[in-house]
Amino acid sequence: MWKIGNIYFIAAVAVIGGALFGFDISSMSAIISTQPYLCQFNQRGHDENGLCLGPTDDVQGGITAAMPGGSWLGALVSGIVSDAFGRKTSIQLGAIIWIIGSVVVCASVNIPMLAIGRVINGFSVGICSAQVPVYISEISPPSKRGRLIGFQQWAITWGILIMFFICYGSSFIPGTAAFRLPWGLQAVPAVLLFLGLVFLPESPRWLAKKDRWEQAVEVLTLIHGKGDPNSPWVIRELSEIREVVEFERANADVSYFELFTPGMINRTQVGVFTQIWSQLTGMNVMMYYITYVFTMAGLSEPGTNAVLLPSGIQFVINVVMTVPALLWMDRWGRRPTLLVGAFLMCFWLCINAGLFAVYGRAPYPGEFTSTAESMAVEGPPAKAIIAATYLFVASFAPTWGPVSWTYPPELFPLRLRGKAVALCTSANWAFNFALAYFVPAAFANITWRVYVIFATFCAAMFLHVFFMFPETANKPLEEIEEMFDDTKPGAIKYIGTPAWKTKNTRNLALRQERNETLSSEEKMGVSGEHKESAA
Ligand code: BGC
Repeated sequence: MWKIGNIYFIAAVAVIGGALFGFDISSMSAIISTQPYLCQFNQRGHDENGLCLGPTDDVQGGITAAMPGGSWLGALVSGIVSDAFGRKTSIQLGAIIWIIGSVVVCASVNIPMLAIGRVINGFSVGICSAQVPVYISEISPPSKRGRLIGFQQWAITWGILIMFFICYGSSFIPGTAAFRLPWGLQAVPAVLLFLGLVFLPESPRWLAKKDRWEQAVEVLTLIHGKGDPNSPWVIRELSEIREVVEFERANADVSYFELFTPGMINRTQVGVFTQIWSQLTGMNVMMYYITYVFTMAGLSEPGTNAVLLPSGIQFVINVVMTVPALLWMDRWGRRPTLLVGAFLMCFWLCINAGLFAVYGRAPYPGEFTSTAESMAVEGPPAKAIIAATYLFVASFAPTWGPVSWTYPPELFPLRLRGKAVALCTSANWAFNFALAYFVPAAFANITWRVYVIFATFCAAMFLHVFFMFPETANKPLEEIEEMFDDTKPGAIKYIGTPAWKTKNTRNLALRQERNETLSSEEKMGVSGEHKESAA
């Protein structure tokens, strides 16, 4: 079968999996405040104007959380599926499951059917969100790996935006088509993903692992050798892959458990916390429940969809502000990007907490539909809340968003990468699930203090990154290994080189590419031992 070898094209098809992730994130936010939805899944009767009040907050939390719950499971099992059947096949399986889930959700007539459909959709997103980065990282050249994986985040933000506006457009259609149309349409990209993957090669590393060396050579020749099986690059990669595969054979204990051995546990906690903290920034409060926040800030008119347009603006900001990271992420380095992101988000959350605490009042009876809409703010403070919310999203998008996908695969040696990334991604979904479920109840019960909690998490992640997250940008894999070596002079037991002493070695990497000779300290990028600064 004819296969496509262009790496950008391969990444473009594969990240449709990321778009499905985005679709699911925003498939609820535009719909939960519309009358057709509130009436179809009504549990609370009507208000004095005859408007449907919809599901209870707990149940709405459960419906929203059904997706990340399914994704958690999907991400966890994805490592096993993809090791057994291949990266490509597992993503294709994800596409088929997505189509089934979309049919169930689109046809749902009651809450259980909707929740089950969302679990199925979520399961698919779990597989794709864990295995697309693995597939891309195994197929792309090292110099483009960060950016190509970063495209996954961009696809997520596009997915969120497109779905939100499809839902927004559909909200003008009377009747249940307002939500059935978008939930049905979301199956289309999965069909494209499935068919597109037919023309993409399987990961050469997975083929080699399965002893399908001839096919592995064919793929390497196609994607990196420009058709020449004897090109130096193909030969070098092949021998590297052979070494790794032989190592794995010789070390039968290479499994999930190795992630928890003394030599690996530090990286495992760093990788897992990268994803946990990305959730605990509170970004998904803005993604799932933005209509609640903006309703409290006075942007809604009862019974209309007026709140949707200003909500949609933040999804545009999310897409646009991811671009700088794609362009400059490798130049900035991972540590500064994460530190600046945590600092800025902490700041905007404190502003919002203060504004709601000082200027907020309890809503009048019947003023809003959901009990999660537990405060009301008017005038300039309301405008400031909207601005701080947009700025929060603009702070997440170029920092924790993309780095949370690029950083974990960089931490681990190739032999562990598939399983390690599956574990880190499942942590993303576990926390995503918890937040989706608890945030409405938290707003109802502790109002503006919800913002204080997330601001505290941002401060904690700042410290955690500063002390524990080493710089990986521009470092070849072997040097990342060395950074975690705890037997070197100055290294901390079980940890390796102190994180705050590691630097972005971009200048050095560029010098190395020009074939200049570097000292081993220079290669490690340890501060104080060389004067080279990050580019
Ligand atoms: C996160 C999602 C979030 C999205 C927003 C992703 O990196 O994992 O939970 O909704 O970014 O753009």
